Amino acid sequence: HRQQDGRSERHPLDVVAHRGASDEAPEHTLAAYRKAIEDGADALECDVRLTADGHLVCVHDRRVNRTSNGRGAVSTLELADLAALDFGSWKATGSEPEAPDRDTERAPGRAPDDPAVPTPGNLPGLAPGSGPDPDRTSVLTLERLLELVADSGRRVELAIETKHPTRWAGRVEERLLTLLDRFGLAAPPRDDPSPVRIMSFSARSLHRVQAAAPGLPTVYLMQFLTPRYRDGRLPTGVGIAGPSIRIVRNHPDYVARLRRAGHQVHVWTVNEPEDVELCVRLGVDAVITNRPKAVLTQLGRR
Ligand code: G3P
Ligand code: CA
Repeated sequence: HRQQDGRSERHPLDVVAHRGASDEAPEHTLAAYRKAIEDGADALECDVRLTADGHLVCVHDRRVNRTSNGRGAVSTLELADLAALDFGSWKATGSEPEAPDRDTERAPGRAPDDPAVPTPGNLPGLAPGSGPDPDRTSVLTLERLLELVADSGRRVELAIETKHPTRWAGRVEERLLTLLDRFGLAAPPRDDPSPVRIMSFSARSLHRVQAAAPGLPTVYLMQFLTPRYRDGRLPTGVGIAGPSIRIVRNHPDYVARLRRAGHQVHVWTVNEPEDVELCVRLGVDAVITNRPKAVLTQLGRR
């Protein structure tokens, strides 16, 4: 589907579902990813963290407090602990604002020390007259997500973000690559664009990936534009830039600089129609959005 520079021949702008179709379903749940695939997203974004017993799970925050009815850091909990929690009840109907603080995000309206008490009658994860829908409420392992993609019946790319990679001194990347290898995704053929790319705010994490799996594309995420990378260069070996939409709004000429330096540009998190329009105008390669369906509709692809 792609030309030599990695751009799609079918459409110029890839639509990546951020944490799944996370505006409509609880983020990082199977339901959110199923919906994104059904809606026609080109790719799925997910954050991965390592549990205390070495499983990679799709959870954004350091702690489970915001997105589940439990408490504590993912790194101190075992997969069985996470499996006992409800990761869907927090999701109110309507949209969730992008949370500002990566480690203190909470469900709106919940006081910091309120134990979450799910009430089965009013969980959004419950269909009327039935029990909880595990697709909307269970913790998602990366392995299960890879199975979903493998079974989807069409090409769906994955943009996997390593979270808290420094804590584990290489174990996140090691586990990630072992898992990708099992799915035949760690060493894509040279002339075939990889369906998986690894993203991180940590250049060190990306360098670990490059060293162990040189065929996998890497994306350097940037929340703010630092002087070091202002001229369009990226950390060594990184091919794709992942600036925030805030950077792109404030420095629209940065996209051209990156492209001139030979980099693709994947922008996050692009939820507003005017931001989608800006990204189209600037020729970015991918938008990462909580609303893949709305963006695909805006682009005339639905
Ligand atoms: O896709 C990149 C974006 O997800 C980075 O920010 O905090 O949502 O992981 P965050
Ligand atoms: Ca992310």
